Amino acid sequence: MTGLTQHQIIDLLRQNLEAGCGDVLAEAPVHYYQQGAASPPKAAPAQAMQEAPQAEIFPAPQAEVSPAPRAAVPIAKPAPPMAGATELKDAIAMAQKLAAEADTVEALHQAIQDFELCGLKPTAKHCVFQDGIASAKVMLIGEAPGKEEDMEGRPFVGPAGQMLDKMLAAIGLRRDENIYITNIVPWRPPGNRSPSADEIAICQPFVARHIELIQPEILLLAGNIASKTLLGTQVGITKLRGQWQRYQPDAANLEALPMLHPAYVVRRPETKADVWADLCALKAKWRHA
Ligand code: URA
Repeated sequence: MTGLTQHQIIDLLRQNLEAGCGDVLAEAPVHYYQQGAASPPKAAPAQAMQEAPQAEIFPAPQAEVSPAPRAAVPIAKPAPPMAGATELKDAIAMAQKLAAEADTVEALHQAIQDFELCGLKPTAKHCVFQDGIASAKVMLIGEAPGKEEDMEGRPFVGPAGQMLDKMLAAIGLRRDENIYITNIVPWRPPGNRSPSADEIAICQPFVARHIELIQPEILLLAGNIASKTLLGTQVGITKLRGQWQRYQPDAANLEALPMLHPAYVVRRPETKADVWADLCALKAKWRHA
């Protein structure tokens, strides 16, 4: 017996849920901060249609709406200590070094799995690295794994992923044939919050190296975080979507197409027509790539 009343137990469960503890990953709880794991993260801060939209996936457009940010997760207990500027610089420097040393995709995967300096890692079940075909011309980059991705270890397998698969299939792209998929951060942010600026900065060298190693011809950037991070812009995705950009770090110069995030499309089915227009633009370029 716990000695707690039914009401107290329900209150405790509710507090856990509000703190982002929504999933059971192991038999017993683990206090990662007491284990001396890496410091935890700071809180997160139309083109004309060429083909008729497929009725089931792409219904008629309606009024334009702005994407709602992911729901902030209320923190029920004091936030753990934040990484200092030096720790952040050191973590980025280490990520840059490990990324540069990785000369294959497999080596990069291993380097990320061994990397202990991102605060997202301790609370994630899996490092969600990639899915798809490494020789694909199109590389899609999303934001971060969610619950289903963390459980399975593959990107975009939850509801947003199912929507994504249908959208891509409509233009002939399939992850077992001709597209490669990854995310800006490989570990699930607790409670599905957005990754913080520090977490993104720490993981960015790995993403940049991942793109260098895959050598795609086109980047498809799903959502605000992927677009802003890789294009270095503050312009929001509703303005940027569907407009061809260039991804231009030192070693690359690639065509990049920002699109609405499939999770947003799941929440706002009226945006499917915008996505369809963007995918038609992608199809036209990819066929000639
Ligand atoms: N959303 C993303 O951005 N990536 C995933 O892998 C799943 C959902």
